[in-house]
Amino acid sequence: MTDLTTKAIHAGYDRADNARAASVPIYASAAFDLENAARGRALAAGELDGFEYSRVANPTVDVLERRLAALEGGVGAVAVSSGMAAVSYALMCAGERGGRIIASRNLYGASVDALDDFLPGFGIDADVVDDINDLAHVESLIGPDTRAIYTETVANPGTEIADIEALADLAHRHGIALIVDNTVPTPYLLRPIEFGADIVVHSTTKGITGHGNAIGGAIIDAGRFDWANGRFPQFTRPQQVIADADGTPRSFAGAFGREAFIRRVRIKYLRTFGAVQSPFNAYLTLVGLETLPERVSRQVATATKIARHLTHVPHVLKVNYSGLGNTPQYELAAKYLPNGVGQILSFLVDGDVSNVRRILDGTTLFSYVPNIGDARSLIVDPANITHREVPDAVRRAAGVTGNLIRLSIGLEDADDLIADLDQAIAAAY
Ligand SMILES: Cc1ncc(COP(=O)(O)O)c(C=O)c1O
Repeated sequence: MTDLTTKAIHAGYDRADNARAASVPIYASAAFDLENAARGRALAAGELDGFEYSRVANPTVDVLERRLAALEGGVGAVAVSSGMAAVSYALMCAGERGGRIIASRNLYGASVDALDDFLPGFGIDADVVDDINDLAHVESLIGPDTRAIYTETVANPGTEIADIEALADLAHRHGIALIVDNTVPTPYLLRPIEFGADIVVHSTTKGITGHGNAIGGAIIDAGRFDWANGRFPQFTRPQQVIADADGTPRSFAGAFGREAFIRRVRIKYLRTFGAVQSPFNAYLTLVGLETLPERVSRQVATATKIARHLTHVPHVLKVNYSGLGNTPQYELAAKYLPNGVGQILSFLVDGDVSNVRRILDGTTLFSYVPNIGDARSLIVDPANITHREVPDAVRRAAGVTGNLIRLSIGLEDADDLIADLDQAIAAAY
């Protein structure tokens, strides 16, 4: 099974273990029979693959985890209850016990808030940069406490592209990890692990599930990073929860080697904070994944057509869509995203906030919702909705001004969508 389209339908599922059900069953069971004391201990210590309690692992969720790991090219994945749980767990798992994270400024609003305002309260600090591809600047910020570089592979809403391979090389030269949020392109368009990323996070709520019907997230581990290199005390400290058979505590790096990160996410973060994905949501996400290639390829074609059209529409000052090939990031787009940069684009309009409101209210096919990656086309004003927790100056620096409108392109006919936007923009002035 090598092709992504095949993996999206088959990876991680064995009918022989599931009453030969053709479609992945929903295991609505909180707990599972441990069978005997020895097996119970080994399961709890993470030594055996299997199920004990659905806060830590569940067979339906497990299929999703294996499928996402296969799609991204990782050694393991943990599915969680939202994209923000995935972002928070990944950043905390890398940064815990006094670490610093170097992050790009143009992140999703709640991620900016987490790094600027919330995680410092837990002893994890951020060094935020305007341009994550300014490697000299990023390198100058790497200090003894730096644990990771964090960026979105394609930023929301500006679609700026991160130079993953260069960032991974830089990070690895200094013994720190590269963590990326790959929500916007989805693994259909970009697989960051192939370019050296160590940890990939997703809001599966978006393009992966693809129908706007299930909140979820995932963390995928490339399984290559050496967490015992001296920078990450949390991975080398012996811990009771993974004690061996005679009760001697082990460290995550000692017990799990290159899989230490994803094991720690499951055994410490899921077990303690408990933002577990429900089997029902995992099922919806598995159904959505089956059509990921078909959906995203069509959405990219429509998004490109709409972005091109908008560049000629009166009152549209600027269109942000790296896929147009007219941005300074042309070469990055060609290298990392040859099949397109994704379903979202944004555009700046002239006038004031009342014009923006009229455009939002004037569309009839676009739903005004704070989501992306749905089968339906969506419209939103990020400054007021998705990025409202970001301080004004930071938001402006990331290009998210009051006159910016974001679109997430669905599966409707491209010309119908263009006609809807045209009439809404014309009527707004
Ligand atoms: C790039 C990105 N990452 C993470 C998230 C958070 O995901 P969720 O809403 O599933 O928590 C979002 C949500 O919009 C997002 O756009």
